[in-house]
Amino acid sequence: RIAYVNGVYVPLRDASVHVEDRGFQFADSVYEVCEVRDGALVDETRHMGRLKRSLSELSIRMPMAENALKVVLRETLRRNRVVNGMVYFQVSRGAAKRDFLFPSPDTPPTLVVIARSLDRAKGDAGAASGIAVITLPDNRWERVDIKSTGLLPNVLAKQKARQQGAKEVWFFDEQGYVTEGGSSNAWIVTAENTLLTRPAESGILRGITRTTLMDLARRDNMVVTERAFTVAEAKAAKEAFVTSATNVVMPVVKIDDTVIGDGTPGALARKLRAHFHSVAE
Ligand code: PDD
Repeated sequence: RIAYVNGVYVPLRDASVHVEDRGFQFADSVYEVCEVRDGALVDETRHMGRLKRSLSELSIRMPMAENALKVVLRETLRRNRVVNGMVYFQVSRGAAKRDFLFPSPDTPPTLVVIARSLDRAKGDAGAASGIAVITLPDNRWERVDIKSTGLLPNVLAKQKARQQGAKEVWFFDEQGYVTEGGSSNAWIVTAENTLLTRPAESGILRGITRTTLMDLARRDNMVVTERAFTVAEAKAAKEAFVTSATNVVMPVVKIDDTVIGDGTPGALARKLRAHFHSVAE
């Protein structure tokens, strides 16, 4: 496998960044994960838009022009022969003598790109059974709208989920409202078949899959309401699912010890998963 690191393509085992890279020392970096399907980057424009937003919120500059970055993503995919899978790209504020303050503005940002094939059949098989999630208090910082690599709370929470036989964690805020998953957005379906997902104004990352799924659901005349829901509401919901670039739509069949619906993936979640790529660009 081949990675792109600051201007060069190198074998993954030799791919490294400086020990004083600010991504390494301070998690002073942002990233994107884009699904690759039949050779195409799914929702690339939206992922680029969010990358630029994350960077600008942190006053990190784009490592290169957007079009050049798109070429690097494609070249990384080509060199790894990825047709179905994902591409990960990360931009840090660069390498500089350790100091909390920003380095001088001429410090070049670090760009790293890696790509990996993913077995679509495996993903579909996982979705056919659905996943269990556990719930935990959201102990992350307020700026989770920035897709930063500061993911330690997510790492610890997802590890805890694993120990309890679950695939994902749903964080909840101080009022008991679900914020989002450890690496996904959270959705439920009410008894009236309304799709509920938390507004992106607070507490969550504005997921690209979430945005595109809202477009799809509305196009198919489903009712989508952006409103926060509690853990209790989720446990009583008709269906639950999560969305992310790598999982697309993944049904949730258990929340903590509560079985959702009849314990199998819900009809709307299955339908949305099946149709997702007809609307994603
Ligand atoms: N995670 N919320 C969080 C905290 C996430 O980390 C992610 C994505 C999402 C979903 O966003 P999107 O639909 O744009 O993938 C929501 C990626 C896949 C990851 O960290 O691997």
